[in-house]
Amino acid sequence: MRKVVALPGDGIGKVVLPEAIRLLDAAGFKAEYVWGDIGWDFWCTEGNPLPDRTIKLIEENKIALFGAITSKPKEDSEKELDPPLKGKGLVYFSPIVTLRQKFNLDICIRPCITFKNNPLNFIRKSNDGGIEEPQINAVIFRQNTEGLYAGVEWTNPPQSVRDAFETNPKMNAFKEVPNEEMSISARIVTKKASERIIRAAFEYAKKFGYKNVTLCEKPNVLRETSGMMLKIAKQISKEYSGIELWDTNIDAQMMWLTKNPENYGVIVSENMFGDIISDGFAGLIGGLGFACSANIGDQYAVFEPTHGSAPKYEMLNPSIVNPVAMFMSAVMMLEHIGELDIARIIKKAVADVIAEGKFKTYDMLKLKGGPNVFAKGAVNTEQMTDAVISKLN
Ligand code: NAI
Ligand code: MG
Repeated sequence: MRKVVALPGDGIGKVVLPEAIRLLDAAGFKAEYVWGDIGWDFWCTEGNPLPDRTIKLIEENKIALFGAITSKPKEDSEKELDPPLKGKGLVYFSPIVTLRQKFNLDICIRPCITFKNNPLNFIRKSNDGGIEEPQINAVIFRQNTEGLYAGVEWTNPPQSVRDAFETNPKMNAFKEVPNEEMSISARIVTKKASERIIRAAFEYAKKFGYKNVTLCEKPNVLRETSGMMLKIAKQISKEYSGIELWDTNIDAQMMWLTKNPENYGVIVSENMFGDIISDGFAGLIGGLGFACSANIGDQYAVFEPTHGSAPKYEMLNPSIVNPVAMFMSAVMMLEHIGELDIARIIKKAVADVIAEGKFKTYDMLKLKGGPNVFAKGAVNTEQMTDAVISKLN
């Protein structure tokens, strides 16, 4: 039987992941789930939010479903360590960013596709004064391991780093700034990783019939990193006749996605820009309760909702959060491993529940989260899962 590593993590990750597994079981997906430890609890008790045993589980089983983790700033992290671990120089790191880097999950896919009748869908005024609700079908390919999130950064950079930077004449502008008053985050982009993400975007466009791929960068300012990506995109696009390469600047793209988001199909970007536009598009299709993602490498893949652990809602029982983002992440897993029929059945069941509009989590009712949302007509997380399960057929 197929094995899937289940990594609930923290907060609402512990709620939505088991619900997704309940749905997968009901839909007839045959798998054994092996549960892995990850997140804040393991930082506090072991000084390691991503224990080696969890890495081993992923190495063995290749595929993981992940809920969400809690991250906190450096000082808070040290404070929450169990007393025997304090003062040992342990430094908190984000386990999900580490997973992406360790398993070279360099291709992040974030589809933002409108569900019909979702009350959170983007709307705008039409020319005749009415309201229109464009169908959005954007799939963001985010380079997941390098760029501005590569982690190559310093506060108070060592002199050798400073010297290296000063080989660039643009550093003259900072020559009076002492090292202690300077922070640097490097944006490193490589040819190989850029080729992989851009090719993955074109392959996806080809497979699913998208007519264009947009490279969303800023080559007029970030001449080197964005410039390299644009050059590679131009080369790769020649191999795909019938798919047009568009290029937009990240800032303009953020404006256009509030005006004509339906014009965009597959979009590809560096790590940070991909993070930004995927959140932007997610907002148009219902926000964090709906935003799903896949982190895919050559050998391993991890599927997760875009949202975090939502600590505000962690203690609410029954839980109020929307499990759809986690469900759609599970659907991406099914598609990745070739379980297309079950993927289709689940997708349709989710779409049917939303279209029918009888069951809505608090976010879909535009309520402020809290225990009183049920009195206002919201269903809880389990009831939402039950509604989807009842539509499976
Ligand atoms: P968050 O995504 O956890 O929550 C932000 C807000 O979005 C929530 O308060 C809630 O109003 C809404 N929300 C999130 N998920 C929802 C769902 N399934 N249904 C309905 N509403 C939902 O982001 P926040 O509050 O900035 O971060 C909380 C913690 O999560 C932090 O420790 C952060 O570091 C971590 N985080 C982890 C991520 C991951 O595991 N991949 C991603 C983002 C944040
Ligand atoms: Mg983000």
